[in-house]
Amino acid sequence: MRPLRSLFLWAAAALCLAACGTASDDAVIPHPASVEELPGSFRIHAPMALSVEAPVEAAEALTGYLKTTPLPIDTAEPDAAKNYLRLELSDDERIPASEEGYVLSVRPAGITIAARGEAGLFYGLQTLLQLHEQFGSRIPAQRIVDAPRFAYRGLHLDVSRNFFDKEFVKKQLRMMASLKLNRLHWHLTDGAGWRIQIDRYPLLTEVAAWRRGATWQQWRDGGAKYCRFDDPEASGGYYTKEEIREVVAYADSLHITVIPEIEFPGHAVGALASYPWLGCTGEQYEVRQTWDIDDRVFCIGKETTFEFIEGVLEEVVGLFPSEYIHIGGDECPTVMWEKCPHCKARMKAEGLRRPRQLQNYATARVEKFLNARGRRLIGWDEILEGGLAPNATVMSWRGESGGIEAAKQKHDVIMTPNTYLYFDYYQAKDTENEPFGIGGYLPMERVYSYEPMPASLTPEEQQYIKGVQANLWTEYIATFSHAQYMVLPRWAALCEVQWSTPDKKNYEDFLSRLPRLIKWYDAEG
Ligand code: ACM
Ligand code: ZN
Repeated sequence: MRPLRSLFLWAAAALCLAACGTASDDAVIPHPASVEELPGSFRIHAPMALSVEAPVEAAEALTGYLKTTPLPIDTAEPDAAKNYLRLELSDDERIPASEEGYVLSVRPAGITIAARGEAGLFYGLQTLLQLHEQFGSRIPAQRIVDAPRFAYRGLHLDVSRNFFDKEFVKKQLRMMASLKLNRLHWHLTDGAGWRIQIDRYPLLTEVAAWRRGATWQQWRDGGAKYCRFDDPEASGGYYTKEEIREVVAYADSLHITVIPEIEFPGHAVGALASYPWLGCTGEQYEVRQTWDIDDRVFCIGKETTFEFIEGVLEEVVGLFPSEYIHIGGDECPTVMWEKCPHCKARMKAEGLRRPRQLQNYATARVEKFLNARGRRLIGWDEILEGGLAPNATVMSWRGESGGIEAAKQKHDVIMTPNTYLYFDYYQAKDTENEPFGIGGYLPMERVYSYEPMPASLTPEEQQYIKGVQANLWTEYIATFSHAQYMVLPRWAALCEVQWSTPDKKNYEDFLSRLPRLIKWYDAEG
């Protein structure tokens, strides 16, 4: 072979290696259930002829979504036999049974995504977008059959301790969708700020949404004082109903359900600072400290407390179409109840032997209210203590024991153990050189290693484990960049715990796919 020709062939081969990958090089996150390599590749050389076989509303939504992505499409020639992108709702038996499952076929002539539900088409598109980002305009031919392991794939965001505006939340939602997460648990009320407009109780956002101290730490160190919104030193914020509707609609367009959390009966300082009659003493409320205080609870003895929480929840239900309404329930001390004549009278009237049972009484009452409106109650695992409300779902955060107990009692469970999924924990042992964490040590590898199905449960009991969620508490996180530092790339590890089956999980392989995300992180700022 002449040297020049040989050089040319080598160069062509090298170029092809760089540009023409095969399906075995796919770096999709979360890892799909099955990938079959096919001969050839699909080249996007012009806008793809789009056709969507779905009811009009779904077709419009998918087309509208596609127009926001880098995939070039053209809607003028839906019957094209070449260079096409076909999305089709179908109940073909080869498509996974889940509404969120899909079959993505990339062939030299075009690309087809088939699914039983709109969500499945959307997730097929997420996979295609990742392949496009990875391979550019020449995507290796392949057939991906994919479906999620868990139906509930959540993330939690605390906007009480530090407030994050709606644009932050929308960016979070966008990134979640790319990783096929489908629930945002929005922690809207807590001791450091009430963040949701409630028309019946305007002081919640005239007072409890505002404080002296831009960050949670400054606020705490300055004596944890609230102020009015018009105070020159006021810091904080809240979401108007209009903004909440906007976020909920945006999430819906990304197949994400937003679950609001209204803390009850603990973590109530914000509500009590606005309306002191909600507490056991009924006195003007002075916040001393936000941690380890006993008097941050609603009074369970007074009927006015239930009028309040039901009034708040009525408006919350009107804003959020989610099946679940989260009522918190964590870390609720009973000290005030033990001394309160109203609470003592309630215990007597209801035949309760222990003050802790007041929490169960209150939770069960709220559950009845929610169930009557077609909603389900979910709460932190403390709602197990003193007896679980009849239909409640338990979010297990103090390890897995609460979740295991709830599943044994035939209640649905979301696993979010702090031992694996608290993303306010440090990612390095050398914490001196790290942005603030609340403590702990939770590197990505540990997140990745999490197996949510407790081996101690029978297969029948395991059916109650409905999903997995990671939590971002923000006492020490006040900025976008800090929040991103804490969640990236642990979110990527999380989504494989939620979506992929254990047989598909492999940490080394995951690490090899991870660098692809850097470009995406950059694009999202
Ligand atoms: C929690 O972390 N207090 C639920
Ligand atoms: Zn009381």
